[in-house]
Amino acid sequence: MKKITVIGAGNVGATCANVIAHKDLCREVVIVDIKEGVAEGKALDIWQTSSINDFNTRITGVTNNYLATKGSGVIVITSGIPRKPGMSRDDLIKTNASIVKDVTEKAIRYSPDAIIIVVSNPLDVMTYAAYQAANKDHKKVFGMAGILDTGRYKAFIAQALDVSPKDIHAMLMGGHGDSMVPLRRYTSVAGVPITELLNDEELDKIDERTRKGGGELVNLMGTSAWYAPGAAAAMMVEAIVDDEHRIYPVCAYLNGEYNLKDIYMGVPVKLGKNGIEEVIELDMNDREKDMVQESAKSIREAMVVLDKMKLFE
Ligand code: LAC
Repeated sequence: MKKITVIGAGNVGATCANVIAHKDLCREVVIVDIKEGVAEGKALDIWQTSSINDFNTRITGVTNNYLATKGSGVIVITSGIPRKPGMSRDDLIKTNASIVKDVTEKAIRYSPDAIIIVVSNPLDVMTYAAYQAANKDHKKVFGMAGILDTGRYKAFIAQALDVSPKDIHAMLMGGHGDSMVPLRRYTSVAGVPITELLNDEELDKIDERTRKGGGELVNLMGTSAWYAPGAAAAMMVEAIVDDEHRIYPVCAYLNGEYNLKDIYMGVPVKLGKNGIEEVIELDMNDREKDMVQESAKSIREAMVVLDKMKLFE
């Protein structure tokens, strides 16, 4: 791929650009920010690691210059304000929806064929906002949260069992918030069902810590996380650029799948060069179905805030 754009040179955007460069996925990564000098500086800093970390990808940083993003194959949107302690992701809607709309419209003008990955919070609602602003096939506009949340889930399981996180397969659905749905029936360690290795009480604790995983970090650092979110978004870019057909939990537009319509929510998908190649419908028991519907309900409640802003009329 010739060019990948990352919008937002904050911690998440810069980390994402850095990981994309390390993976040598394209000729050039362009980082865009509104603050003069920040994208330029971070791009230069990352570029100066090229000979140290052994990659070729050029990194360009620009201030508000969308012309430099022209012809991007993938655009990662990380713009917006991060959470502060005490704020829920929903508190961010009002500020971040206008920002996401603005940057999506600007970026899509120069890269009409790009696939868009949204990382801004509250994720499920911001992905919907970008979809409306981009006005393109929903298979090419989606959000990153599931890989991050599953990454946290796997990290906690690896710690509990003292095993390598690489041997853990896990699936997690729903919104990127406290109602997310870790699926223990679809989680295993080297093929052994997790339910045979940890008891319900231990798994309940891990589920809870995963749901509150973002908040735990906000409380520790006074701002939201970036290493795992940035790397997770880069992993999605890789699946697209290399047409890998990886099965990842992704915030995708649902059109009847899981009995849900006209909503963006985390579900397993097959990710490839066309974006979402397929939404995968897992077989669910009643408890799981209830949790997924409950999660969708909380996303719809947050969507009301976006709808009331009437940004897209
Ligand atoms: C988190 C924020 C980025 O989960 O949503 O860390």
